[in-house]
Order: sequence, then structure tokens, then C-alpha cells
Amino acid sequence: MTRIIHIDRSDYRRDQIVDAVDALRSGGTVVFPTETVYGLGALASNPEACKKIFIAKGRPSDNPLIVHISSMEQFFSYSDPDDSYPIEGLNKAWPGPLTVVVRKAQGISDVVTAGLPTVAIRMPDDPIAHDLIEMAGPIAAPSANISTRPSITDSRDAIRFLDGRVDVIIDAGPTRFGIESTIIDITKRPAELLRPGSYAIEDLEPVFGPIVYGDVARGLGEAKIAITPGMKYRHYSPSTKLILAETREVFRQILDTVDEDMVVLATEEMVDGHKKAIIIGTDRDLYSVAHNLFSSFIALDDMHVDLALIHPFEERGIGFALMNRIRKASYRTVKSREDFLDLLGSI
Ligand code: TXA
Ligand code: MG
Repeated sequence: MTRIIHIDRSDYRRDQIVDAVDALRSGGTVVFPTETVYGLGALASNPEACKKIFIAKGRPSDNPLIVHISSMEQFFSYSDPDDSYPIEGLNKAWPGPLTVVVRKAQGISDVVTAGLPTVAIRMPDDPIAHDLIEMAGPIAAPSANISTRPSITDSRDAIRFLDGRVDVIIDAGPTRFGIESTIIDITKRPAELLRPGSYAIEDLEPVFGPIVYGDVARGLGEAKIAITPGMKYRHYSPSTKLILAETREVFRQILDTVDEDMVVLATEEMVDGHKKAIIIGTDRDLYSVAHNLFSSFIALDDMHVDLALIHPFEERGIGFALMNRIRKASYRTVKSREDFLDLLGSI
């Protein structure tokens, strides 16, 4: 049985989450909000509890979890005490949507880190997540979706997909950002971007120095040797085949050709009167697109169509993370209208 705790954010008090704290303390699993996406967590100090996360999500056990903390003291107890850290950068970015990979302290369970010598750590900026961690202890958690499916950014979907699979779900509405945290590996100099996310790298570089990345971080191709284990798995995918137009020009050309039954995912500015559309935000504020992207994928699946078309974004600021998620969610990228028509004929 899953216990659901309903929270109205305008009237939130920490005593409302005591049942979630109790569930964690007794080795249970809790779905909780963060400012990025919902997490599915267990106490990081309890390997048996952490194993339940993999079962609930259907997640392969070689894909490590993020340890969520609420204080720098906890950071120091999970990271290798012999290393030096960019403390100024961490203090600036945290609490917030940044995850850092560091060498781990002794005694951290291999269940959490999938046997790696490193651990991913982040301090979320959500009052409920903060209180939960402060009251129960550091929480190991991946995003609260079923493995490979779109991440959950609204508790409505958490209840829909995870009721019966976890001990507690904290029902606290939509999350602020809607896209997962940015992950950088700070065991490397310069730091390496493993996954773009809600924290724009342009905003991290002034404090962490230059951050390097390859095509995999852009969502192009898969890592041969997984730099981050998660990279080798398909991700964020709706069941509907999502087709990405390589440029906005190609998107417009396709829109001119297809009939009105074709479903498109587009910003207000790009929808161009097309009838069957899911509006994913506005080009004036790409954070609006981040906020809606995963819930739009879920809405798309609810339409039960074979395929849908989406347009690209400029890979700057939050647009970098948007393109990573869209590429990973896409079935195919088409370079021209002809490409698209060929594809239509083949599926
Ligand atoms: O915003 C977020 O980051 C959300 C919320 C819940 O905090 N969490 C999240 O977790 O997105 P998850 O499991 O979906 O993604 C974490 C990624 C995975 O791709 C995993 O492979 C990678 O972090 N990761 C974890 N530990 C790692 C490590 N030691 N080295 C490299 N990558 C690691
Ligand atoms: Mg995930």
C-alpha cells in the first residue's frame, strides 16, 4: 500500500512529512519533489532500502543514484576527505539544480554508486526535499520515472505511475524547473559535463572554471564506454515515435506538407495555427519549455498516435539541456521534408 501525503505548498509545514520520514527511517521508499523533477528515494545509508529503488523503477543496477544532501557537513561525510573541492562554486550553486561527481568516502554502499569509486551528490533547493533530508538523513534517489520513460515533473503523474510501487508519495504539485540537474564531474580538471540540466553551464563556468563536454552530453550518439552509466540507456522516451526536425526551417516545411492529423509539439511561436498541437511553452522564455517538456511527452502518449513532430532549440543556456532531452527522446532526426516523407513511408 502506498501512503499519499497531499501538500498544499502555500500552507506547508514540516510536520506534514513525518510519515515520509518514518517510512525512510524504517527502510522504505519515498517519492518526493525537488526543484527539478520528482525523485524516488531511500536512505543512502541503507543499502537494502536502496535496492528497492531499482525494483520500483525497473532500473538496471549498474546505473548509480544521486545522493541528496541538505548541508555541507553531509557533503564532506560522503566525499573523499583527502580531496580538495571547489567550495566557493558549491556554495554558490547549492542549494540548486547542480550534481557533482566526486571520489566517494569509505563505507558508501556499492548499491548507491553501482560499485564506482565516485559518488554523485546534490543539494536540492526545494523546502520539502530539504526538510525530508534534514529530518531523515541523506537520500539516494534517481528521477521518479519508470526506467527509460519521461521523468515525472508533476505529482499527478507520480501517483498515476508509481502508486503501489513505493511506500510514500508526497503529492506537492508541479516542480519548478521540469528538467533534471546538471551533472559535472569535478574529479577531472577541467570539470567535465556529464549531463546538461537546469543549471546552465554558462552560469557555472564563472565559478567552476571552464567545463568541457563531448557529443554525448549534447544527446548525440551513445557513449561507447559509459562516461556516466546512465548514458548507455535509452531515456526520457514517450511511446509515440517522436520525430525531430533538424532545423526550424525543416520543421516549417514539414508542417506545410503534412495534413492536420499530424501531432506536433511546438512553442507558441512555432505552432503556426496547426490544429493538433501540444504547446510546449514560448520561445521568449525557454524555462517555460523545460517546465512543460516531460509532461508534454506524457500528454503525447495519452493521445495514442503513432508519431509526432518536434522542432529544435538553440543549444544555449537551458536550450542545451532541452536539446539533450529531445534528442534522447526522439526516434529519429530528419534533415529535410523528403527525409520525413521517406520515414513516414517506412513506419
Ligand atoms: O535533478 C535530478 O538530478 C534528479 C532529482 C531527483 O535530483 N535526479 C536524477 O537522477 O535525474 P537520475 O538517476 O535520473 O540521473 C542521475 C544520473 C544517472 O545518469 C547516473 O548514471 C549518473 O547520474 N550518476 C550517478 N552517479 C554517478 C557517478 N558516480 N559517476 C557518473 N555518473 C553518475
Ligand atoms: Mg532519470
